[in-house]
Amino acid sequence: MRLITIGFAIALLTAMAAAQAPAPTRAATTPATAAAPASRPTGTLAQVMRGIYFPNANLIFDVQQHDPAVPKKPTGDGSSTETYSSAYSGWDIVENAAIALTDSVDLILTPGRLCQNGKPVPLQQPDFQKFVREMREAGRVARQAALTKNQEKVSDATNNIAEACSNCHEIYRDKGPADSPARCTPPPKK
Ligand code: HEC
Repeated sequence: MRLITIGFAIALLTAMAAAQAPAPTRAATTPATAAAPASRPTGTLAQVMRGIYFPNANLIFDVQQHDPAVPKKPTGDGSSTETYSSAYSGWDIVENAAIALTDSVDLILTPGRLCQNGKPVPLQQPDFQKFVREMREAGRVARQAALTKNQEKVSDATNNIAEACSNCHEIYRDKGPADSPARCTPPPKK
């Protein structure tokens, strides 16, 4: 059993190393027309939020109470999450979470994505564009803070993140439950 676990861990690390290797450059002979078609989104905005924004923001918010340099107490539940929890150091986890929040802004902006209520993500709205810019900026600031490995700096940066989430939610999310037509709808012009 132990050997199997180690074998799996090595396989995982190899896969991770492969994933980190730079993508092979396209052969010069490949015709330009062979370019991959533009990616079409699979999930709704709510799913991107639940899958990426929610868990990664929480990893950063945890820094308020928990010094990432101090390993968390193992729960002994035998899950993969726990078994491989030491694959990345505590501060790497925080930095990577900040990068996830920053670069996933491009997923919010992917053309063709819908909200759960079936309405398009309101990409054309100037205030939505501003909220998106603020999210990216808050993510960048959090990443810079994570690089300093200073718990107080990151705790400060969590304020910007929470604000970036809630500024956008106030207008485009918190108008009703997930299926409500009031979501992802620009407020009426005054
Ligand atoms: C630019 C706008 C914007 C930003 C920034 C943003 N969100 Fe959202 N979020 C939305 C919208 C709009 C919805 C509703 C999407 C839908 O209904 O499909 C949503 C939905 C969610 C949901 C799902 C709620 C449900 O009903 O299940 C979660 C969780 C969430 N956001 C977390 C976050 C967190 C955490 C952050 C910040 C780190 C964040 N969001 C930043 C616009 C934003």
